[in-house]
Amino acid sequence: MRVLVTGGTGIIGSLSGRKLADRGHRVRLLDLAPDPVAVARNGGGDGVEVVAGDVLSFGDVGAAARDVDVVVHLAYSLGEATNRRPYAATQLNVQGTATVLEAARLFGVHRVVLASSIAVYGSDGAYAPAELPLTEDAATRLAPGMPLYGAGKLYLEQLARVYRTTHGLLGVGIRPSPVYGPGGVRGVSGWLSRVIEGAATGRTVTVDRGDARISLVHVEDVAEQLVRLVELDATAFTDRHFFNTGGDATTVRELAALVREIVPEARLEVTSDGQPDVAGLATRVSGRALADLVGYQRRYDLESGLRAHIAAARATA
Ligand SMILES: NC(=O)c1ccc[n+]([C@@H]2O[C@H](COP(=O)([O-])OP(=O)(O)OC[C@H]3O[C@@H](n4cnc5c(N)ncnc54)[C@H](O)[C@@H]3O)[C@@H](O)[C@H]2O)c1
Repeated sequence: MRVLVTGGTGIIGSLSGRKLADRGHRVRLLDLAPDPVAVARNGGGDGVEVVAGDVLSFGDVGAAARDVDVVVHLAYSLGEATNRRPYAATQLNVQGTATVLEAARLFGVHRVVLASSIAVYGSDGAYAPAELPLTEDAATRLAPGMPLYGAGKLYLEQLARVYRTTHGLLGVGIRPSPVYGPGGVRGVSGWLSRVIEGAATGRTVTVDRGDARISLVHVEDVAEQLVRLVELDATAFTDRHFFNTGGDATTVRELAALVREIVPEARLEVTSDGQPDVAGLATRVSGRALADLVGYQRRYDLESGLRAHIAAARATA
């Protein structure tokens, strides 16, 4: 298949592109600011074309999408940063997604695979204990610390639904928990990278939000889940189209302790402002529906994922 990935040189896009190319697909990564380091980190450009372009430009998206079968749409303004730049974030997150779906419709793309987020839910406390871990049937209440980010994801899911019902364009996607692994620069992924990679490479790191709980998923697992949604037979999708990735819940303090176990010489200082979670994100989320749909159980638990991330950081350093 020919696959276009928007936001293609971010942490998730660059690895998904690599995995798709390794499975014989022809891959084009579209990014506003293509990052050659991200492409190199994932094995170089073999089978992967990188193009500079803006998902807000119909010309850029149309030129990149005109000959592809599937679009993986990842370009988006991340996490709490959206609170500081509401106008620009609304443009990118809402208009950008509409531009990608409209271009896909006009150019006869068969499927768009989109990244939604766990931020469509509220914090764990917004649900009755019996509703936890949250399945896709849970009400979407929006993470209170990133309301525009989460609302944009809900709008993205609704756009995908309307393009499916109105135009017959198949739109499916994932609701990832916070992602960690090599290449995290922005949002919660960037924060996690600074902590994990800093500790692994001998820097002194102060971790705030020590008592906050968070659910984490390794980027390898998210990329694998996306690839499988690209490849899955269209008839496998019935009533549901957006799926939790699932993740491993921990407190930030426990995470730091695990890093210290793996890197005994790590200089990690943990502080706490008493927040129970990170930006109001849910932490108890079930990934079972997606695992059953695509036939893939997440490979990494927190310890093996941290070990892999730390080894990668040390190899790069
Ligand atoms: N990382 C996480 O923890 C996480 C969790 C849940 C959902 N997601 C979603 O997954 C997707 C990918 O996230 P990521 O972590 O890889 O982000 P990232 O920031 O690493 O990558 C996003 C990429 O989009 C590019 N981009 C920004 N504006 C653009 C534009 N106008 N046109 C084209 N490209 C543009 C950036 O240059 C960047 O390379 C996003 O939709 C994000 O909301 C991420």
